[in-house]
Amino acid sequence: MALIGNTMTNSTAHADMTKRRLALIGSKGMLAQMLCESAPAGYVVGHYDLPDFNVTDSAQVLEEMQTFAPDLIVNCAAFTNVDGCEAQESLATRVNGDGPGYLAAAAEAVGALLVHISTDYVFSGDKKTPYLETDQTGPLSAYGRSKLAGEHAIAASGLERHYILRTSWLYGPGGANFVETILRLAAEREELRIVADQTGSPTYTGDLVQAIFNLVAPNRSCCAAPYGIYHFSNSGMCTWYEFACEIIRLAHVYALPVITKQIHPIATADYPLPAHRPQWSVFDKSKYQQATGIVEPEWASSLNTYFALRMQRSKEQ
Ligand SMILES: NC(=O)c1ccc[n+]([C@@H]2O[C@H](COP(=O)([O-])OP(=O)(O)OC[C@H]3O[C@@H](n4cnc5c(N)ncnc54)[C@H](OP(=O)(O)O)[C@@H]3O)[C@@H](O)[C@H]2O)c1
Repeated sequence: MALIGNTMTNSTAHADMTKRRLALIGSKGMLAQMLCESAPAGYVVGHYDLPDFNVTDSAQVLEEMQTFAPDLIVNCAAFTNVDGCEAQESLATRVNGDGPGYLAAAAEAVGALLVHISTDYVFSGDKKTPYLETDQTGPLSAYGRSKLAGEHAIAASGLERHYILRTSWLYGPGGANFVETILRLAAEREELRIVADQTGSPTYTGDLVQAIFNLVAPNRSCCAAPYGIYHFSNSGMCTWYEFACEIIRLAHVYALPVITKQIHPIATADYPLPAHRPQWSVFDKSKYQQATGIVEPEWASSLNTYFALRMQRSKEQ
């Protein structure tokens, strides 16, 4: 039995039918935690994650969604260990490829809107101008192939009422991410070697959550955003090296422990990993901007927002 959030039991959650009902899939993950704490008032949130709920079990997915009867399903569940996916591609395909299809079928059955999160890793990175939603995909990794399979499964389900948000370089509270890795290393090592030939756009989970609600519950008088695929990241672009330099700079500003004295830019080839990554995966976000009338925050500004939140939370503890 999946846990129903906001300290509600299944029966009490059913009692208030005036609220919008949101089924949060992968609810223990980094993005889902931010979504849960930032969901606008008026949502009853149902939490679904391992070990009680498995998105690869189509019968369970349908049964749980029929029981909860959500208006909105947001799928944050995924096998997100990019290098781990290389050795376990069949599991990755079941979780990231089949799971979204089962959720789409359940959404169709219960009349829910589905929001699914995908990734820049569906692209090859060969392009040198921002990727459009309509651009040719060409994943280089098992993770990218499995996430693309998830997009295709939703399309094949026939569910019209869905949004697929592709995002990139995600970080935020409550998850393993690049910012936290660099902060840990900054406290441990005098020198860091960071890849400087991959370019992308960092995305703060707080901004992605706002983007989700901007699409599904627009705070505006015009009609809702058309269904389909959208690209969303923070604006601007950087390399992992430039991202790390800004993290260390802010670590000094916020008086966090830093012993790092030098950050060396290195090539991808100097830091071999099992999964190939796109070298250049910046999104064109004009479709999102036109649909919502909202321009996404710049990446360095959102990184500062994240540091301020970390600082505030550490004082509260
Ligand atoms: N992180 C990034 O840099 C990034 C970039 C682009 C796109 N994305 C996408 O953004 C979304 C959210 O990412 P995130 O970083 O927040 O992910 P995350 O922190 O790894 O959370 C994913 C959650 O899904 C759960 N899960 C895994 N397999 C499941 C299954 N079979 N059934 C139900 N739940 C399952 C995980 O549980 P366990 O922890 O127990 O496995 C975890 O709680 C994902 O779709 C991801 O592909 C992420």
